[in-house]
Amino acid sequence: MAERMAKGNGVSGIVVIGAGQAGASLVARLRAEGHGGEITLIGAEPVPPYQRPPLSKGYLLGELPVERLFLRPTSFYDEHGIVLKLGTEAVAVDRAARQVALADGERLAYDQLVLTTGSRPRRLPEAVGGGLDGVFTVRTLADVDAMAPTMTAGARALIVGGGYIGLEAAAVARKLGLQVTLVEMAERILARVACAETAAWFRALHRSKGVDLREGVGLERLEGGPGVTGAVLSDGSRIAADLVIVGIGVAPDTRLATAAGLAVENGIAVDAMGRTSEPAVWAAGDCTSFPWQGGRIRLESVQNAIDQAECVARNLAGAAEPYRPQPWFWSDQYDVKLQIAGLNAGYDRVAVRPGARDGTVSHWYYRGGVLVSVDAMNDPRAYMAGKRLIEAGLSPAPSVIGDPAQDLRTLLAAG
Ligand code: APR
Repeated sequence: MAERMAKGNGVSGIVVIGAGQAGASLVARLRAEGHGGEITLIGAEPVPPYQRPPLSKGYLLGELPVERLFLRPTSFYDEHGIVLKLGTEAVAVDRAARQVALADGERLAYDQLVLTTGSRPRRLPEAVGGGLDGVFTVRTLADVDAMAPTMTAGARALIVGGGYIGLEAAAVARKLGLQVTLVEMAERILARVACAETAAWFRALHRSKGVDLREGVGLERLEGGPGVTGAVLSDGSRIAADLVIVGIGVAPDTRLATAAGLAVENGIAVDAMGRTSEPAVWAAGDCTSFPWQGGRIRLESVQNAIDQAECVARNLAGAAEPYRPQPWFWSDQYDVKLQIAGLNAGYDRVAVRPGARDGTVSHWYYRGGVLVSVDAMNDPRAYMAGKRLIEAGLSPAPSVIGDPAQDLRTLLAAG
């Protein structure tokens, strides 16, 4: 550690609260940048940082062993002098004293603090049966480890919410031979994140796989006790259920920030560098909102968690580099890989481009004539071309994109 201090940059002790993807990326990048001071990473979950995206996909399906989820072996943290405090909840930040209070009463001093607290899943209220046995969310390893044993062939699953979490869970449940009903309260699935064309494509996919997918139907209440046995839906219908998977969205975990009096605006408000309203406190990942196109944006994505965290790490090391998101997302459902480039916020037009093979298509989003995002279903070429066009600031006309005879590579070359 003495050697590390000697190589340091004036910043000594850094405490990071939240050992998810953002926290893990941040501490690794800090050492890579040559930070020589102490680094402590605090995580409420009892396990080292792991990847969440496979939880609702390969891990739930039983195709991925738990070891493959961990981002790094625990030896990495030891070798890099990163103190991991797992199974440990930070309960308060004392800005004046520059200390973090832990649930067990310990207080940790910091010179710089980073909040990477992530998101928390919205839960069904107890009053509608959210506390019954057999009702699960899909956010943590523990959630999925509790759910997986109940997902046996023939069991009846009710999935509440038609976002990517609900749809991915439905795909896994069907693959495992469960009977699946999915209810989406809004008039269509994926309303928050995708266009009507993408929603229609996934609706047809899930129905073809035998999911009873109902839109414009919410949950009135769950029935049973102690275990769930069924549900009453908002249209008055009743269904039997052996388990319920709840994918009704997430909220940024801003509890510590709010209690500490930091600015919070749909997430912990940070500046372009990742600093909060308190200069010694930074934040990165799902829990933040950051400046974007004259306003603020909050992104729920692992790519954002990694890139913003690495940017903050470089800024802690003195880089003064603004964060520029280059968004991409993906989802796996059945044998379909959905890849998304860009951000579709505020889109006013969608061009549909048929893919070269059956079952492949891409949807191209425009805002005021500018290409902003692409959803590519089983069409990695369209995804790559769309990503490059967006990054290059090129916007081929929707009629050009919609013409399958138009070679996407020439559009890039033309730019
Ligand atoms: N009944 C039925 N549907 C509901 C209800 C309800 N009571 N409450 C909410 N919904 C629906 C919403 O209308 C929305 O379509 O649940 C859906 C939730 O979708 P998202 O907000 O996209 O959230 P979710 O799918 O849970 O994903 C949460 O995890 O992996 C990430 O990318 C994912 O960032 C996303 C997050």
